[in-house]
Amino acid sequence: MTKKHDFLIGKKWTGSAEAIPVINPYTQEPFAEVSLASEKEIDQAIALAVETFKTTRNLPSYMRRNICQQVADGIEKRKEEFSQTLARESGKPLIYSRAEVERSISTFQVAAEEASRIQGETLNLDITEPAKNKTGLTRRFPIGAISGISPFNFPLNLVSHKVAPALAVGNPIVLKPASSTPLTALLLGEVIMESDAPEGIFSVLPCKSRDATALVEDPRLQLVSFTGSPPIGWDIKKRAGKKRVILELGGNAGVIVEPDADLDFAAQRVCFGAFSFSGQVCISVQRTYIHESVFDQFVSKLTAETAKLKKGDPLDESTTFGPMIDTGNSERIESWVQEALDGGARLVIGGKRDGSFFEPTILTNVGRKQKIVCEEAFGPLLVVEPYSDFQGALDTLNDSDFGLQAGLFTNQLDKSMQAFHQLEVGGVVLNDVPTFRVDNMPYGGVKDSGFGREGLRYTIEEMTEIKLLVMNQYR
Ligand code: SIN
Repeated sequence: MTKKHDFLIGKKWTGSAEAIPVINPYTQEPFAEVSLASEKEIDQAIALAVETFKTTRNLPSYMRRNICQQVADGIEKRKEEFSQTLARESGKPLIYSRAEVERSISTFQVAAEEASRIQGETLNLDITEPAKNKTGLTRRFPIGAISGISPFNFPLNLVSHKVAPALAVGNPIVLKPASSTPLTALLLGEVIMESDAPEGIFSVLPCKSRDATALVEDPRLQLVSFTGSPPIGWDIKKRAGKKRVILELGGNAGVIVEPDADLDFAAQRVCFGAFSFSGQVCISVQRTYIHESVFDQFVSKLTAETAKLKKGDPLDESTTFGPMIDTGNSERIESWVQEALDGGARLVIGGKRDGSFFEPTILTNVGRKQKIVCEEAFGPLLVVEPYSDFQGALDTLNDSDFGLQAGLFTNQLDKSMQAFHQLEVGGVVLNDVPTFRVDNMPYGGVKDSGFGREGLRYTIEEMTEIKLLVMNQYR
């Protein structure tokens, strides 16, 4: 008998007859079940969030700060339980699951700090004769009830990036976690319930996508924050009506390796960036362009690093390479690799599938129109190609529908600045991979990769509205 988990509306756990299994991607066996919320229950959660805003809009910053800090402390206390749950439901190796839990603690800590520094400004409005006695004062106010829809690949920290800024400003939030990884989000619900957060500020409802329509379309909600695939994200933007949207979508992130780079370090980091969590990361390295003078040397170091990855059970402490979320996805990757090979690509390492596992795979000589170059793989695939001219490498990296983050390994200031100016992405990372993210930095993309930014302070801007007070000194 597997345990059945209820969902959370406000501070009330609720069960339903309809449930789905939670499957361990490694064993492919169900190990738990979650109740699915219906349209009616989603409607109740939205109504409760709207009602709760009447209170939370007036919460002073010290209370919002304390709530965020209590949640950070609550995760800290139960961090092993979080890590095990996350690893079991997502297939993310424990070493990476633990790192994600640490990041989530940091996300709530930064939210606590930001809660007490949501500032406004004073404005001298006396720029014309009729305005000569006027002074302006701005403040940011929370916008109201909002929704979040989160993906399977960071079942805790990408939920935290929606919930923590909402708590920091006082916006009640209704969250739909990914159907394959709902347990970690429900655990976060337990932690939030134990904090001083007012009832109704957080609801978490696993549900079928078709029943989640209201989370996108209901006009009572003021913002929807979505992380997931580009087609779904852009469709959400079309359907969201007047509400704001934050979209963190996919990418096919690129890296450039110049001849002056520390090749050992670059190879280690590109291996990490391409294959950690089997490449199921929006900023996973998918394309690496290496100066021709160091191409062979770099690829042999990278191949050696890749060969060191230890495939196994995500719950085994020594595993560094786990399964993909399901067999359907590993089969998709298999067909993309075959298509590339049929098109003339050369396999450097990997290439085989075993159930939900797909080997960490490096290919070269891949045509620019191949899926593994121009679409988001979201799998353990890396394309390596030589280049001769730096400007050409920048142009090739930009030759993509996506633009989330990019990496450049060099110590040359002029080339670093050239890349910073020219790369069409939300962030350029020097001497590291685009997979780098720390939770206070602005994170988001251009082109098909998204809209708006995460990274507490930046999300707080999206989740608040500037209001102006004009003061007239009439004497
Ligand atoms: C993502 O996959 O979008 C999130 C990456 C991260 O937070 O490190």
